[in-house]
Amino acid sequence: MKIVHYPHPALRCQAKPISSIDKKIKLQIGEMFDLMYEAKGLGLAATQVALPFQLLVMNVSGDPEKKEHEFVYINPTLVERKGTMDGEEGCLSFPGLFQKVRRAKTIKIHAYNLLGEKVEVVASDLASRAWQHEIDHLNGVLFVDKLGIIGKLASRGALKELEEEFKYAQQRGDIPPETEIKALIDSLLSES
Ligand code: CO
Repeated sequence: MKIVHYPHPALRCQAKPISSIDKKIKLQIGEMFDLMYEAKGLGLAATQVALPFQLLVMNVSGDPEKKEHEFVYINPTLVERKGTMDGEEGCLSFPGLFQKVRRAKTIKIHAYNLLGEKVEVVASDLASRAWQHEIDHLNGVLFVDKLGIIGKLASRGALKELEEEFKYAQQRGDIPPETEIKALIDSLLSES
């Protein structure tokens, strides 16, 4: 497992709801936390590790020692949003790119935890931003989609570079060709 970078096709897939929490998914969650901390992120969505499932891990403290801030959320949905805020945002799938994104200030989410219990979370500010960013990932939406005209122009160079890097990685054979990636995602989606 590794974090995939833009423009990996997994980042654009609509993640599928999870119907049961088995041992395999628990192992994947552990790996996702490791990768998230290694990359110094606050959250990581399953689509960012090329798993097309409605799953995300978060620790808005960013500190692996602070286990009380670690959360796993399954099949999250945003049920309420209030207010707006502007702030700088980055993404582990876009290394080095930071841009201002407008988000709702306060949100309410319904999700399931690892025990399969329904949870309701209300979040504001940084946590709210992280939530909205990660839930977007599960719908194939990326933070660069949310930029204003100026932000889009300012990101063009960085996006071009990532596209080139991705192409070279495919040419080197480090990343499989598009058709192979899509077939793999489709096979994961068709598993029950
Ligand atoms: Co992201």
